[in-house]
Amino acid sequence: MSYIQTKRWNVNKSANLQNIEMNLQEAANLIKDGHVVAFPTETVYGLGGNALDPQAVTDIFKAKGRPNDNPLIVHIANRDGLNELVTEIPPIAEKLMDAYWPGPLTLIFHANNKVPTNVTAGLSTVAIRMPSHPVARELLEKSRVPVAAPSANLSGRPSPTTADHVWTDLEGRIAGVVDGGATGVGVESTVLDISGEVPMILRPGGITREELTEVCGHVELDGALMDDGQAPKSPGMKYTHYAPKGSLTLVRDWELIQELATKARAEGKRVGVLTTEERVNHYDADFVYACGSDGDLKTTAALLYNGLRAFDDQEIDVIFSEVFDERGVGAAIMNRLEKAAGGRMIK
Ligand code: TXA
Ligand code: MG
Repeated sequence: MSYIQTKRWNVNKSANLQNIEMNLQEAANLIKDGHVVAFPTETVYGLGGNALDPQAVTDIFKAKGRPNDNPLIVHIANRDGLNELVTEIPPIAEKLMDAYWPGPLTLIFHANNKVPTNVTAGLSTVAIRMPSHPVARELLEKSRVPVAAPSANLSGRPSPTTADHVWTDLEGRIAGVVDGGATGVGVESTVLDISGEVPMILRPGGITREELTEVCGHVELDGALMDDGQAPKSPGMKYTHYAPKGSLTLVRDWELIQELATKARAEGKRVGVLTTEERVNHYDADFVYACGSDGDLKTTAALLYNGLRAFDDQEIDVIFSEVFDERGVGAAIMNRLEKAAGGRMIK
């Protein structure tokens, strides 16, 4: 890829209001004109381009090094934007949108023929979400186009939750980064397929299964999420993902983590441990990361990707991670950790 000068706009609360307005307008104009710009959402930073412009969509794939059989999520500012992209809006979608839009829920609809085939990777369906982050909303409104946006990381790396993470991966490859500070939720949106008979979770995320069940009654989980050897229905779920450079293993037993860490250090490796605040002083390793606190999975989700990237910054060779409760947002945390570990888990 040839080098692109990457702009960085500060739209943090500390910035001057008039500057924020000007910066967002400049970023929105670039998107409208076919360029690719990273911006914060309530989940992770997205890498946005005009979803109706196939060349802009191609450039998103190129900047990330993303395989082109993995479709993108289209981000919209309001429900009018939805009507322009889908053939029908099922009643269950209305209920879900009333309950959880704007927010970290992506819905899979039947796509109409205005949606470029590279957005959907040739599927007949399209993934759509309305983010709740004020900066994302403002940018979408100002750009006046639907915005296709995968997470703004290099393909395979942990998703970015700060503008610095985006900068590390994509500086020189994209037109700009809107810096709105750290994102809130920290893991990606839940992907829910409502194009079939029963709503099915293809990727656990910011809206929990429990929350979806409240609205839908019954919700299924894609069999691939339950280790039954099926191919995942969401193309992106088949790739190794979120992986730090060091080799990560999930370990249920805290005492065993220390044993493994001590052994690896004796072999000359730099060893990291992922735990919570409560046990950060319990381990003896080269780098111990406190990923939130026990009993508050939201704090763990918010810090998870920052933690995975911190092991890279510390040049850690081997990482042992505790496992987390799979209820609520814990399902998303464990899904991402299992992928980052490439399935390495000691029970
Ligand atoms: O929170 C999020 O969803 C973030 C922010 C930026 O909005 N975006 C994000 O996008 O995580 P990405 O591209 O990293 O993940 C999109 C996921 C992939 O697993 C992809 O395969 C799936 O959504 N997907 C997209 N379109 C689909 C479709 N038509 N059918 C099934 N899965 C689809
Ligand atoms: Mg991603």
